[in-house]
Amino acid sequence: MKPLNAHELRRLARRRLPRLAFDYLEGGAEDETTLRANRQAFERVTLCPRALNDVSTRRQEVQVLGETWMSPMGIAPVGLAGLFWPQGDIAAARAAAAAGVPYVLSTASSSTLEAVARAGGNPWFQLYVIERGMADALVDRAHAAGYRHLVLTTDVPVSGRRERDLRNGFSLPMRWRAATVWDVASHPRWLAQVGRHGAPQLANLASTAAGDAQAQAALLQRRMDASFCWEDLRRLRRRWPHALWVKGILHADDARRACQEGVDGVIVSNHGGRQLDGAMASLDALAAVVDAAGGRPVLLDGGVRRGIDVVKALALGARGVLMGRLPMYGLAAAGEAGVAAALGLVREDIDRVLALLGCPGVSHLGPQWLAAGLRPVPSCTASPG
Ligand SMILES: Cc1cc2nc3c(=O)[nH]c(=O)nc-3n(C[C@H](O)[C@H](O)[C@H](O)COP(=O)(O)O)c2cc1C
Repeated sequence: MKPLNAHELRRLARRRLPRLAFDYLEGGAEDETTLRANRQAFERVTLCPRALNDVSTRRQEVQVLGETWMSPMGIAPVGLAGLFWPQGDIAAARAAAAAGVPYVLSTASSSTLEAVARAGGNPWFQLYVIERGMADALVDRAHAAGYRHLVLTTDVPVSGRRERDLRNGFSLPMRWRAATVWDVASHPRWLAQVGRHGAPQLANLASTAAGDAQAQAALLQRRMDASFCWEDLRRLRRRWPHALWVKGILHADDARRACQEGVDGVIVSNHGGRQLDGAMASLDALAAVVDAAGGRPVLLDGGVRRGIDVVKALALGARGVLMGRLPMYGLAAAGEAGVAAALGLVREDIDRVLALLGCPGVSHLGPQWLAAGLRPVPSCTASPG
């Protein structure tokens, strides 16, 4: 059965994965308020289509830092993708390369960054700083392996409290409980794959001298170097010679400061609602960050589930979006083919939405397509009436 949308892909993923793996993918922090807010923000934005424009051809390629993406979307970094499918990072990277869109590999990947680079495409590398020496070593390895984009995640000074994971005992080493054993045993297809390929590891650390169990546990629990600050960003800028992005920015002043420190682009994100519960929706932060970034590309993630969401983000000034859960639903449902299906759904959506909107290409998107932009702007010279 070909899934019609993200809901159906999600259902397939939920059926195949044990609960502990599905909850890890799906969950947000604490009461999951920010997780929901990301979707609600998209639902609040409405568009105003234009009539009788020639939309017989519609273009969705975008230029980002001199590179062409075939669609204005990419795959966000997702740790432990091997939990969803054996060698899940490689499968997802291949699907993204085939679709002509970027794939951002997590520090917490289950294949090494070298193996993912060898699999082809033009993957990006996301950096978590657990310890500065370890981070420097990862940056140098990414450079040596041919990565050309580095994404520094800034919103994890400590790990958010994901209560689903705490309830399921999801940790390294796993805390097995009777319910977890039963959960895993009742998903034989998933269990057979794990049996054949081995339990997923945090491979980037396992292959370094620092790759001890403690470092792996710190990464899984996102126990980071909470003292990492602007001076360290400056140092990172000096160390990394290619494109540098900061991810996890919501405040315009932080975007401005990051640009002053020499980053090439900004990713507006609240980590898919997995960190600060109560943080604003990423879409609500977008316009001000775009303004502050002064022409540098701004990407958005958090809550993107359909092409219409991509179009709304672009109308609000994003150059493109990243997606975390949606391609991972595809990965969990059917491996590389499932990720390709997820990307294909969004691509088809964007094409249809452009036609229905009367917009010949994504480069034409801007605030003029937003219904909110049609509201008369109150004049400050008008006399009170
Ligand atoms: C299971 C899971 C693991 C994640 N792991 C990472 C990670 O290792 N590094 C990172 O910067 N962001 C990570 N994120 C956050 C995503 O990169 C992205 O910000 C978020 O998923 C976007 O929201 P969406 O899932 O609604 O698309 C993870 C998200 C999920 C769902």
